[in-house]
Amino acid sequence: MSKRIDVDDLNVYYSKFLAVEGVSITIEPRSVTAFIGPSGCGKTTFLRTINRMHEVLPGAHVQGKMLLDGDDIYAAGVDPVTVRSQVGMVFQRPNPFPTMSIRDNVLAGVKLNGKRLGKRAEEEIVETSLRGANLWNEVKDRLDKPGSGLSGGQQQRLCIARTIAVQPDVILMDEPCSALDPISTLAVEDLINELKEKYTVVIVTHNMQQAARVSDKTAFFNIAGTGKPGKLIEYNDTKTIFNNPSVKATEDYVSGRFG
Ligand SMILES: Nc1ncnc2c1ncn2[C@@H]1O[C@H](COP(=O)(O)OP(=O)(O)OP(=O)(O)O)[C@@H](O)[C@H]1O
Ligand SMILES: [Mg+2]
Repeated sequence: MSKRIDVDDLNVYYSKFLAVEGVSITIEPRSVTAFIGPSGCGKTTFLRTINRMHEVLPGAHVQGKMLLDGDDIYAAGVDPVTVRSQVGMVFQRPNPFPTMSIRDNVLAGVKLNGKRLGKRAEEEIVETSLRGANLWNEVKDRLDKPGSGLSGGQQQRLCIARTIAVQPDVILMDEPCSALDPISTLAVEDLINELKEKYTVVIVTHNMQQAARVSDKTAFFNIAGTGKPGKLIEYNDTKTIFNNPSVKATEDYVSGRFG
């Protein structure tokens, strides 16, 4: 549980287009890291390389090294499906399976991984995951109702429950609150704060206050112009990035002068 991520000189391509260039970063276990930067600088693209989701698109590939607790997830013979069960992902729009019950939504990933479980074990996973996602009390009396009957914020926490049900080591979140109202956003932020006790959490956000509230470390990405690759410009403790960055572009971005 909770693994360290070491990235060394990673280039990320869509066919011939170099979208992100030369990322080297170490992300510590039991921490929250925020990826910030202007639109198109490659935050999503890079995030999706951490669980090998990037290569699902034809022609999409990477060069360089991506280690999970020292193991190269791109080494020959590594099954991307196994990687994705270790490194879970939560998307921008809550995407529960609409006709599936809340219970089955939580179990969806576990079942997809081919695990056969008894009724008791299933109930336990459902309760533990929903408790872990701060949703149990709100849904415990309606587990057989469809996931689509929940509010947006509840749906996003349901997706987080589905992610933690498979017991990943790392949780990636791509703007998980951008479709949520402020109250639901705070609920998800509280949850992120709890998740870091068990998981390595990486979150992409356009919300500077959110990055400052939830993350321990912040990585600022930027792009020199259209068609140019995005790059990691500065990576440090969140406090330093926001209060005393070393690069002018970082300071301009966090103070709202561009992006
Ligand atoms: N499927 C794709 N095929 C080709 N190029 C892509 C694809 N997805 C993204 N790109 C390009 O890769 C670059 C990085 O895009 P990406 O979506 O990673 O940016 P981002 O930082 O997440 O932006 P935003 O903040 O708007 O979500 C952009 O130039 C984008 O046009
Ligand atoms: Mg994005």
